[in-house]
Amino acid sequence: MSESTPFDVVIIGGGPAGYNAAIRAGQLGLAVACVEMRGTLGGTCLNVGCIPSKAMLHASELYELANKDFASIGIDVKPKLNLEKMLEQKAESVTALTKGIEFLFRKNKAEWVKGFGRIAGVGKVEVLDEAGAVIRTLEAKNIVIASGSEPSGLPGVEVDQKRIVDSTGALSLSEVPKSLVVIGAGIIGLELGSVWRRLGAQVTVVEFLDRITPGMDAEVARTFQRSLAKQGVEFKLGSKVTGAKASKSEVTLTVEPVAGGAAEEITADYVLLAIGRRPITAGLGLESVGIVPDKRGFIDTDHWKTAVPGIWAIGDVTHGPMLAHKAEDEAVACIETIAGLPGHVNYDLIPSVVYTYPEVAWVGKTEEELKEAGRAYKVGKFPFSANSRAKVNHEAEGFVKILADATTDEILGAHLIGPQVGEMIGEYCVAMEFKAAAEDVARTCHPHPTRSEALRQAAMGVDGWTMQA
Ligand code: FAD
Ligand code: NAI
Repeated sequence: MSESTPFDVVIIGGGPAGYNAAIRAGQLGLAVACVEMRGTLGGTCLNVGCIPSKAMLHASELYELANKDFASIGIDVKPKLNLEKMLEQKAESVTALTKGIEFLFRKNKAEWVKGFGRIAGVGKVEVLDEAGAVIRTLEAKNIVIASGSEPSGLPGVEVDQKRIVDSTGALSLSEVPKSLVVIGAGIIGLELGSVWRRLGAQVTVVEFLDRITPGMDAEVARTFQRSLAKQGVEFKLGSKVTGAKASKSEVTLTVEPVAGGAAEEITADYVLLAIGRRPITAGLGLESVGIVPDKRGFIDTDHWKTAVPGIWAIGDVTHGPMLAHKAEDEAVACIETIAGLPGHVNYDLIPSVVYTYPEVAWVGKTEEELKEAGRAYKVGKFPFSANSRAKVNHEAEGFVKILADATTDEILGAHLIGPQVGEMIGEYCVAMEFKAAAEDVARTCHPHPTRSEALRQAAMGVDGWTMQA
């Protein structure tokens, strides 16, 4: 396409928001370019997020199973960790998947423009090289901002990616820490803390709140914390880190109780800072079109439209959960709206999964949210200890909890804790998207013996007729 022909859509950022937008635009026959400055497509998710973290979670889980559990089922082995190889297989998966996005771009005629994208007025995106020189100017009928997010900092705790790391550094440590302090009991802290604990680190998690994983149903969070503690993770809740001093071989943290009281020092050979992520808007040229991010840096949108006609924002840079599948849903809806189709995202049904052992997965409302809204609800619960497949696999930890409207029986929330529940939550996403009643799931035939039977038994429990517990 010649430089003077405008693109229908120019996207800034090639993560789950940007690359899915580019693919969908190509499918719908729109002329589309995606500006991405990283050497690979896929954004945080594929390069330094979802994918490498899950590669390390999978490998470290197998290592721990071989180390601790195989003998009990009659397999005697003595595994030896080859960390270099484990990191290599992670990198190979990342490369394969980022190359896969390049293939999908070619397949759908989406152009990857390499460089830093900067808005230079309505309908205009400049592409800069590493030295900051403009190498190309793209005319665009629509601009989609999909610049994503980065780890939040903490005053007094300077990330050097050597001793004090963020999630990116924690995915590539060249040795197993003897001790690791994780700041923040959120999803990143618990997933990556689990990886290094399984490989041999003594892990302490320091959390500001008096609970872990805010946003998760409180009963599930308590069970989750107990399980992680049993595995050896130490928790310091209601505590804040006020300073960190790193030497060549260790870090000393100053930790104070949030409620007040004496500070203490904790020393560890590595520290992972994981207290949330913040949107990236610096250098995007928002001032050239008069877009002002909110106080926390997010770009406000209404149905993915910013305040400026023709400029859209999706994914982590705008409000809502910072999740790859939320970014993907917004990408599809935004592009379909641009193409004149009825784009839609159901923000009430965006599932969450924590990929630890046990996994935690949920969708819809928590009990706390229902109580706060004054909604009358019924609960159905089923423990995996009563599920035959979980039992024979010696993976009987956790439960399924279903919340349904007390009058209509409509499913309002599904909360699962147990091995592999991340693969099971989709059933409730579909059911709830179709506004199913708990009885609909209770009367749907599920295969035996599978863990999915627990989903049915819990749904039966909403009306008090759980049969197998
Ligand atoms: P990003 O993925 O951050 O992509 C934005 C892209 O834009 C980046 O590649 C960046 O280089 C590029 N960019 C920014 N500015 C410019 C510019 N001016 N010009 C050109 N390019 C630019 N989510 C899940 O759903 N499941 C998980 O299991 C999960 N695990 C995670 C694990 C970790 C360790 C982390 C850190 C995150 C994880 N997430 C997970 C969150 C997920 O990665 C993000 O929600 C998702 O990547 C957001 O997609 P995005 O496209 O909005 O932004
Ligand atoms: P988070 O928001 O999940 O958790 C941050 C935790 O840090 C919270 O518990 C918070 O109370 C605590 N905290 C904040 N300030 C603190 C302080 N000063 N001292 C101690 N604790 C403090 O953020 P996290 O874990 O960094 O993850 C960022 C985002 O990445 C999440 O929003 C999540 O959506 C996404 N993500 C998703 C994954 C998944 O879906 N499996 C995996 C990893 C990340």
